[in-house]
Amino acid sequence: MTRLQWLRHLALIGAILLPWAAMTAAASSPIVIAHRGASGYLPEHTLAAKAMAHAMGADFIEQDVVLTRDGVPIVLHDIHLESTTDVALRFPDRARPDGRYYAIDFTLAEIRSLRAQERLDSDGQAVYPGRFPAHTGDFRVPTLAEEIDLISGLDRSRQRRTGLYIEFKSPRFHRREGHDIAQRVLDVLREKGYDQRSEQVFLQCFDDETLRYLRHELKTPLPLIQLIADPGWGEDSAVDYAFLQTAGGLDAVAGYADGIGPWLEQIYLGQDAQGKPVLSNLVALAHARGLQVHPYTFRADALPAGIDSFDALLQLFFLELGVDGVFTDFPDLARTFLQDHRQHRTPQ
Ligand code: G3P
Ligand code: CA
Repeated sequence: MTRLQWLRHLALIGAILLPWAAMTAAASSPIVIAHRGASGYLPEHTLAAKAMAHAMGADFIEQDVVLTRDGVPIVLHDIHLESTTDVALRFPDRARPDGRYYAIDFTLAEIRSLRAQERLDSDGQAVYPGRFPAHTGDFRVPTLAEEIDLISGLDRSRQRRTGLYIEFKSPRFHRREGHDIAQRVLDVLREKGYDQRSEQVFLQCFDDETLRYLRHELKTPLPLIQLIADPGWGEDSAVDYAFLQTAGGLDAVAGYADGIGPWLEQIYLGQDAQGKPVLSNLVALAHARGLQVHPYTFRADALPAGIDSFDALLQLFFLELGVDGVFTDFPDLARTFLQDHRQHRTPQ
């Protein structure tokens, strides 16, 4: 073989292997999970925010899912529409007696006609004033199927393999409304060829019964994450969140799930009198049972009390606590942090 032939041979091998190496990104650890997309920069759960997260190198992109009246999974954080769309302007007489506009009361065609926008609070003010301008932009509420098409299309054109991280929102509410949200989401994953991709899809829920149903009755092979809320948030679940954070609770979780998604303030409890972080033992307890730990939500513009920079927060969780991934509104910053701090992690 001549030198030129040998170089061509090497180039050919490289051309085969390099894209493959890039496409293993979803399996890297710790993982960066784009929380509602790159939602620090564009309105949450819009396709624009998801495309930006992809470009920023997120390993996984999160989808919160609710159903429409016609049973179609859409990507929306709330079961209500008014905080992130212009539904109150478009359909002013369609609120329930509690004043809320429920996605389950609207067909997909109606929801497609809404404009999605930056999240507003109950006074109509932007929840994060420094982010994308409120009431601005031509964004829509995507279906889960449309979002999967976007991510898989970008994976193809950018030679990546980006993961989906799907949350079932309020499954008990959906059941009362006559819908099985777990089954509907699995149907979409099967239609899109993602239902067996256990390296590329996480399923998450606050409701333990829904996770048990997914594992034992629907028999999904996809990894399941038990989310842990603060009891005061009123999540749609009967689970005892305090018990879940104990050794006994995590023993139970290990029987049906592959990891936990705790609120970061269930791990970082504040500072002591000397200004040192006070930490729970939740990460170590979970790791001892083989459970992954993916805390939420890491926001550069909403730091926990006592943490003075986003890098300090990431340092604590990635390097000192050794979590397996984080949900963040700023996937670019987490990606850069991990690139700058390779080899410095001490998992518990
Ligand atoms: O799913 C993890 C995290 O996103 C849970 O909080 O309210 O943003 O869905 P939330
Ligand atoms: Ca979520």
